Amino acid sequence: MADDVRRGLTRFPKTLPPYLFYDEAGSSLYERITELPEYYLTRAEREIFVTQAAEIVDRVGRSAGGPLSVIELGAGSASKTEILLQAVLARHGRGLYLPIDVSATALAGAEARLRRSLPRLSIRSLPMTHAESLRVIADVAPPRLVLFIGSSVGNLPDGEASALLRRTREALPGETWLLLGTDLRTSPEMHRAAYDDAAGVTAAFNKNILTHINRELGGHFDIGRFRHLARWNEAASCVEMHLESVGAQEIAVDHLALRARFEAGETIHTESSVKYDLPRVARLLEAGDFRLEATYHDRARRFGLHLARARAAGR
Ligand code: AVJ
Repeated sequence: MADDVRRGLTRFPKTLPPYLFYDEAGSSLYERITELPEYYLTRAEREIFVTQAAEIVDRVGRSAGGPLSVIELGAGSASKTEILLQAVLARHGRGLYLPIDVSATALAGAEARLRRSLPRLSIRSLPMTHAESLRVIADVAPPRLVLFIGSSVGNLPDGEASALLRRTREALPGETWLLLGTDLRTSPEMHRAAYDDAAGVTAAFNKNILTHINRELGGHFDIGRFRHLARWNEAASCVEMHLESVGAQEIAVDHLALRARFEAGETIHTESSVKYDLPRVARLLEAGDFRLEATYHDRARRFGLHLARARAAGR
């Protein structure tokens, strides 16, 4: 964290990595975001799970032998995943679920809930980073279904996203499927509004990154002197979030022995959230060594759940 913050605040334009949103306060602000009227992503994706989970599990089950192991990157509270796991148990009678998340608290909560609601499910929680999990998941027998949902992939540049998929695929030789959830490009105004809600929850979420730095690194940010900005970037097809300095100021970060100078109106870029079209999804998957097999949509076609299959070695 110290290295990332130092690097981000000493370059121009200034940046901070989005994982810094998710301290305890940030995680609960994000849960509130998922319930905002403007933030349609979570509801749209849940609708797809509710209407298509059985179909998705059938499709994978028809070509895969034996019960499925479900591995989830960034599982969080796993509330949408529960719908899919229910479908796995309905079809196969049993299943193994391996949720990966850096938040041990979120995993413990999800595990306790799932043990009650789905007693036939085996669960192995992996409270670690994706990179650390690769050695563990390599022992999971095929067939496997990897979940990377919630449009989390949208925070990554395409090259990093496909590298992450490729590393996952390499750790899991044999029959591996992937379910990738992405927001879809529709109307820029609707996209921007989803990151600039009327109640100001997203603004609080964005500014919390500074509170997090104050606490962990002895920072002296005054969040009253930064403004939340959400911008549509047409060329990159993404919404960008920034924090704009109100006036010129110099901010000390004690543990980094750093003083960061801000011009009036200077911004920190905190997040990009990509809104995809299908060719971009297909390219990203191909570069990650997966082939797109099917896309499932919500009724309003705002969101896509893409089912892909790992390409066989040497093809
Ligand atoms: C959790 C990364 C999918 O980019 O839409 C919500 C995070 N940022 N509002 C997104 C977020 C601002 C969210 N993801």
